[in-house]
Amino acid sequence: MTWQILVGEWSDFAIRWLHVIAAVAWIGSSFYFIHLDLSLQKRAGLPEGVAGEAWQVHGGGFYNMQKYVVAPSHMPEDLTWFKWEAYMTFLSGFALLCVHYWANPELYLIDKTVLDLVPWQAVTLGVLTLALGWVVYDQLCKSPLGKNDVALFGVLYVYLVFIAWGMTHVFSGRGAFIEFGALIGTMMVANVAMIIIPKQRIVVKSLLAGEEPDPALGKAGKQRSLHNNYLTLPVVFLMISNHYPLSFGTQYNWLIIALVMIMGVAIRHFFNSQHAHKGNPWWTWLVAAACFVLIAWLSGFGPSAAKAAESKPVTAQAQKIKFADVQEIVVSRCSMCHAQEPVWSGVGVAPKGVMLETPDEIHLHAKQIYLQAVMSHAMPPGGNITEIAPEDRRILGLWFEQGASMN
Ligand code: HEC
Repeated sequence: MTWQILVGEWSDFAIRWLHVIAAVAWIGSSFYFIHLDLSLQKRAGLPEGVAGEAWQVHGGGFYNMQKYVVAPSHMPEDLTWFKWEAYMTFLSGFALLCVHYWANPELYLIDKTVLDLVPWQAVTLGVLTLALGWVVYDQLCKSPLGKNDVALFGVLYVYLVFIAWGMTHVFSGRGAFIEFGALIGTMMVANVAMIIIPKQRIVVKSLLAGEEPDPALGKAGKQRSLHNNYLTLPVVFLMISNHYPLSFGTQYNWLIIALVMIMGVAIRHFFNSQHAHKGNPWWTWLVAAACFVLIAWLSGFGPSAAKAAESKPVTAQAQKIKFADVQEIVVSRCSMCHAQEPVWSGVGVAPKGVMLETPDEIHLHAKQIYLQAVMSHAMPPGGNITEIAPEDRRILGLWFEQGASMN
C-alpha cells in the first residue's frame, strides 16, 4: 500500500468523523432548543421581559430556563451563539462531497443509462443544483407567499419533489440521493448563516440600544427554524441511504424521497405537539409507518422497467446455476474494484472493504451481490461501467434464489 492511499483513506475517515460529530452536535442542540422553546410556560411573577420559563433536571441538578423576548436589564458579556455546529457540518460535508462524489463522478454521480454525462458536466450540475436550489428556495420564502406558512410549506414540498425527480433523471440513484441530501443540508445551513444569525444580531443590537426590534426579523428567523426542524430527519435518511441500494436503486426513487419528507414532517409533528403540551397526535406514527411500508413496497420494483425485465429470471427456473459461472461473472465484472489490490484507477482500496475475489468472499457476500447487482442495478457503478450483461445478472439472481451454494 502506498502512502498516497494511506493519506487519502485517513483524511477521508477524519473528515467523515468530523462531519458526523458536527451533525450530532447541531441536530442535538437544535432539537434541544425546539423542545425548550415549545415547553416554556407563562406564570405570574416572572421577571420583566420574560415570556415563559421551564424547569428541567439533568446531570444532578435543576435548571430554571427563562426566555427573555425583551432585552434583560443588563445584557451579559458572554452571550453564547449556536452556529459553529451548523457551519462545521456544512464545511465537512462539502469536503466529503468534493473528495468522494465530485472527485470520482464516474463511480458515484454518473449513470450512463440515466443520462450520458461526461465527468465535468456531472460535477458542474452537482455544484449548480446546490447553489440554485438554495437561491430559489430563499426567494420563495421572501416572496409574498412567505407570509402564509402553510401555503409556503405546500409550495416548497412540490418544489423539492420536483428537484428530487429531476436529480434522479440526471444522476445515478446513489448520486441523486446524496446530491439531494446535500441540497437540503445546504438550505438548512444557509438558513442559519444568512437569515437566522444575521437577523438575530440586528435584534440584539436594537435591544441593546433600548429600542423595540422589528417583529418581522424574529418572524423570518422563526420560519426558517421551522423548515430546518422539519427537514432534519429526511436529511439523515438520505445521508445513510447510500448503504441501502434498494432505497436509491429503483425506478421510483424520487417517490421514495417524496415519502421520506412526509415521514420526517409527521414524526417531528408528533414531538413538537408533545413538547408544546398540545397532546399526543398518535396518528402521525400511522402516517410515518404507512410511508415506510409504501417505500419498502416501491423499492421492490427494482430499476427501470426495461432493465428489470431484461435481467428477471424468466427462463429455466429449473436450471441449476453452477458456482463456477457465478465466480467467473463476479471476477470479471466486480473484482477489478473489489479486490485486495484494486486495478481500477481511482479506487485505492476495496470499496467499503467488500472484496469479491475468492470463492469464499463471493459466497459470503451472496446477499450483498443480490441486493447491489440484481434487485437494484447499483453495481457495477456508473450505470454498469464494467458492462455486466443482463443474462449475467439473471444468473447471479438465480444463484442466490437457489440458495447460493458453492458448487
Ligand atoms: C468500478 C469499480 C466498481 C465495480 C466494477 C464494482 N463496484 Fe461495488 N462498489 C464500488 C464503490 C466505489 C462502492 C462504494 C459506494 C459508496 O461509497 O457508497 C462499492 C460498494 C459496493 C458494495 C458495498 C455497499 C455498501 O454500502 O456497503 C457492494 C456489496 C458492492 N459494491 C458489490 C459489487 C458487485 C456485486 C459488483 C459487480 C457486479 C461491483 N460491486 C462492482 C465500486 C465498484
